[in-house]
Parts: sequence; C-alpha cells; structure tokens
Amino acid sequence: MLELRAISDDEVPAFRECLMNAFGDDTGDNDPDGDRRFRALIAPGNAWGMFDGKQLVGAAGMYDLSIGMPGGGSLGCAGLTMVGVRATHRRRGILSQMMELYLAQAREHGHAIAGLWASEAVIYGRYGFSIASWDDVTEVQRANGLTVRGGGDALEWIDEGRAREVFPDVYARATANRPGVLRRDAVWWRERRFLESPFARRGASKRRHVLAVRDGAPVGYVQYRQRQDSHPTLPGGRSEISEMHGIDTRAIASLWGYMCAIDLHPNVFWPNVPVDDPLPLLVDDPRRIVRKRSDALWLRIGDVSRTLAARTWGGELRVAIGDDVYELPSGAKTSGTPHVTIAPHALANVILGGLRPSDLARAGLASGDVALADRVFASAPAPWCPEIF
Ligand SMILES: CC(C)(COP(=O)(O)OP(=O)(O)OC[C@H]1O[C@@H](n2cnc3c(N)ncnc32)[C@H](O)[C@@H]1OP(=O)(O)O)[C@@H](O)C(=O)NCCC(=O)NCCS
Repeated sequence: MLELRAISDDEVPAFRECLMNAFGDDTGDNDPDGDRRFRALIAPGNAWGMFDGKQLVGAAGMYDLSIGMPGGGSLGCAGLTMVGVRATHRRRGILSQMMELYLAQAREHGHAIAGLWASEAVIYGRYGFSIASWDDVTEVQRANGLTVRGGGDALEWIDEGRAREVFPDVYARATANRPGVLRRDAVWWRERRFLESPFARRGASKRRHVLAVRDGAPVGYVQYRQRQDSHPTLPGGRSEISEMHGIDTRAIASLWGYMCAIDLHPNVFWPNVPVDDPLPLLVDDPRRIVRKRSDALWLRIGDVSRTLAARTWGGELRVAIGDDVYELPSGAKTSGTPHVTIAPHALANVILGGLRPSDLARAGLASGDVALADRVFASAPAPWCPEIF
C-alpha cells in the first residue's frame, strides 16, 4: 500500500538516501553535511515522500524561488528539485502522483510558474513543462596561448571568506537584467555556492575564487576547481568553472583570459555557459571552443496573465493561448481578435526570450502575424539559469 505525504524532520536521512540512490550516489561520508544542508534549504512541508509500508521509495521537493524576467523584474517560481524513485518501484506512476502534489502545492504557494532542470529531457513534457532557457556545455581545448581580447581588469586571488562577502553584490549587478537567473538569498549563498564535500568535489580541488577589479571595485568573479592530470606527458589538467559573472564584456573577457592561461591546465570546462557568451568573438581561434547546446531551465506556466504581466514587451499585441486572448503589455484577458496564436505549452519557449514566435511557427506551434510577435517578444540578453537546482 503506497502513501504519499510530506516527510517529517526525522525522515530527512531516509529521503536523502532514496534520492541519492536514484541518482547512483551515496549519502554518509560522501556528503557528511547533507542532512543539515537539506534542512537549511527546504522549508518544512516542501519535501514529499512516497512510502511503501515503512520504506521511502519516492522523493520530491520544492524550492520557493524567484526568477529574473525580461526587463529586470522577478516572478515567484515553484522550483521542483530532488526527484527520485527507487529502482524497485519505477514506472508504477509514483512520479506522476508526486507531480500532482507538487503542482497543487505550487498553486497553494501562489506561484504563477513552476520550474525545473530535467535529468532526462523526455520526463517532464507530459506534465506541461517546456524548455525556457538553453546553455552551452563548453570545453576550451588547448586554452593556453589563446589570447582573449577586450579584458584588462585587474585580477585578485581571494579566500572563501572574502568571496562570501563580495560575490552576492557582483552577482546581483551582473544578473540584474538577465531572464532566467535565480535571485539568491543569504541561505542560498551559504549552502549552495560555498559547500565543500567529497560529493561536491568529485575528486577535484576545492573551489578557487578570483575577482576582476576595476578602479578598486569588484566587477566580476570566477569560482572554479582544478582537476590535475599527473601523467608525465604534456600538461593535461582541467579547470572546471562553477560559475563566472561579470558586469560587462570587459569583466567577462578578463576572467576568460585568466581561465585560459593557468599553467598545467590547458582545458577549461564550464558546463553552463550562456548562449550569448562573447568568448568566441574575442579569440582568433574559435574552434578551440567546443560547445554543445543543451536544454537548461524548463518552465510550466500556470497563471498566464500574471506571467505575461511580469515582463516587459516591445509593443502592443493580442495573443491567443488556449481558449483565451491576452493583450500585451498588460497581460489582461481581452475579447479582441488575436494577432497571433501560440500553443499553450510553447509559451514557455518564448516567455524569457529564448526562442522567437517565428521559431515556433516553423514548428507549427504558432501562427498569425509572427513578424509582429517577434518584435514584441524580443528581449536581450538571452535567458540563462546559471545553476542547476
Ligand atoms: C525519472 C523517475 C523519477 C521516474 O519515476 P517513475 O515513478 O518511474 O515515473 P512514473 O511511473 O510516474 O512515469 C510516468 C510516465 O513518465 C514516463 N517516464 C518516467 N520516467 C521516464 C524516463 N526516465 N524516460 C522515459 N519515460 C519516463 C513513464 O513511462 C510514464 O509514462 P506513461 O504515463 O505514458 O506510462 C525515476 O525513473 C528516477 O528516479 N530516475 C532517476 C533519477 C532522476 O532522473 N530523477 C529526475 C530528476 S529531474
């Protein structure tokens, strides 16, 4: 007999064991601080377990997030996280039951949108989610000797204590206008950006922290690990960027220049590079930058009016979505004739500016005056969710 309910505090270890197990990992020595961190990040009532008798066989959790929207505003978002079903219980509908509960909780918490990162792209479309932002899994090969133009900011090696002090302000400035970013509070910074455990390190060094400084003030930072290669051949180490932010192209170029010139580490890996990152335009040999486009943030738009009203628009438009017509820029429902029709699940593809309505039209997901819609939906910079949650 299966029972789905919120977990109690003493069930946190069992929840995490089930989850880590589903991802092929372990709790315990691998992540000694994990239970405490879980309690700091997940509000009571925001984690659910499916129980088969006494055994916890399914896990799912929710963060109450706030996400950047085009124009610099923010929108509350129910962030799905920590989803796993024990392999003995797979494909019996446990995920579907957990999704129903999660989406009900998202509504109860007043969130107009729900968001997630998917372990596999085939899972969440059936629950109404679509891709809202993409990123580039990027490896710079033979980075040493690659000259990055446009930098020039001073670089300062800082310890973790100073990084904790200065990073939040740089992040807020660098991402103020970027759709798809998470607004971070102090707990998020402490527990998610500076965590060290064997699980987080995966055999690499501790995180390094370097600031870009201009006129005495921080303008960017990079947080990275190093993975050494000890074979007595040519240097083969790899620097792995956790995140890098700069308030402008000069700061970003300065940090890329630094990352591409670390001795013994000619490979630079960053799994989550914004699609509009300028690096390929700042080097003479862009083929050394190997990029693979991947889906990143997925969204499900529960309250269309509120979501439309939460961003800025490049003009006026009436858009039909499902049975209703909405007018932009207000997002209010209208009885007017629509200029354009967008398939309900495809609204998430364009809401942050990741795709254009004309891209949808080519796939049969939008119709009407898509040239006008492109102008009204246009937004820059490209959406980017700098971290997996
Ligand atoms: C993904 C996972 C949670 C699915 O749980 P589950 O309880 O087996 O899923 P359900 O039985 O509720 O499946 C619901 C539907 O989704 C489909 N589905 C679920 N997971 C799928 C997958 N990985 N690939 C393809 N289809 C999948 C099922 O076939 C089913 O389809 P149907 O309704 O047409 O029959 C589980 O396989 C798991 O723990 N995987 C490893 C960890 C993971 O990837 N977690 C997700 C983190 S984002």
